[in-house]
Amino acid sequence: MRKNIVAGNWKMNKTLQEGLALATELNEVLAGAELKCDVVIGTPFIHLASVAATIDTKVIGVAAQNCANKESGAYTGEISAAMVKSTGANYVILGHSERRAYYGETAELLKTKTELALANGLTPIFCIGEVLEERESGVFFDVVKGQIVDSLFDLSAEDFGKIVLAYEPVWAIGTGKTASAAQAQEIHAFIRATIAAKYGESVAQETSILYGGSCNASNAQELFSNPDVDGGLIGGAALKVADFKAIIDAF
Ligand code: PGA
Repeated sequence: MRKNIVAGNWKMNKTLQEGLALATELNEVLAGAELKCDVVIGTPFIHLASVAATIDTKVIGVAAQNCANKESGAYTGEISAAMVKSTGANYVILGHSERRAYYGETAELLKTKTELALANGLTPIFCIGEVLEERESGVFFDVVKGQIVDSLFDLSAEDFGKIVLAYEPVWAIGTGKTASAAQAQEIHAFIRATIAAKYGESVAQETSILYGGSCNASNAQELFSNPDVDGGLIGGAALKVADFKAIIDAF
């Protein structure tokens, strides 16, 4: 059975001290709770080692929000997948629309990052999603399929099976607008069918596909009740324990 996952994406928020306090509080709130989903927090790089050492990583997985497209060497300012793994983190968010839009991350670059993440034992949470014009003109199915095909479909079935996908319509990220439950189900089912056509039904059925974009305590339950929505990638609402816990409790 595929996993349900609620993953937080802290983005560029929280000093080290604030981040540790948030992670510690979440750890306390979740200790002993009966969870119906896996929980992951995606922190800034500098928080990873301290957070991983402070929380129970069997209860809360730790994710980086990016990694380098090179193994090691003279790449000033970059952080490799091996370095991320060495902090105790087990996940890496890749291809977030903010990285694609503001840092020019291409399909080819993301393909390399994904391969390096997998080679270093990290689970990629690979983000895909269309901008508003693509939604409105109806080309969003092709756009989302292209993002998957171009970066991920050279992977073996075994490696593809290690990936978590996050569908995040760019028009819903940080805007307070969410895809409706019906819109989310429609595109998630399409994504699963796209995977099935390439890797077969059993790989498709095992792949967790998260929804992201203004997901919060009041809409999470409706979104997660869709058969092809396996959880959420949460930005703003991951920055307060009460809000994040309410989303976790939506399962
Ligand atoms: P949001 O961000 O929940 O603040 O819309 C989601 C994301 O970018 O992953």
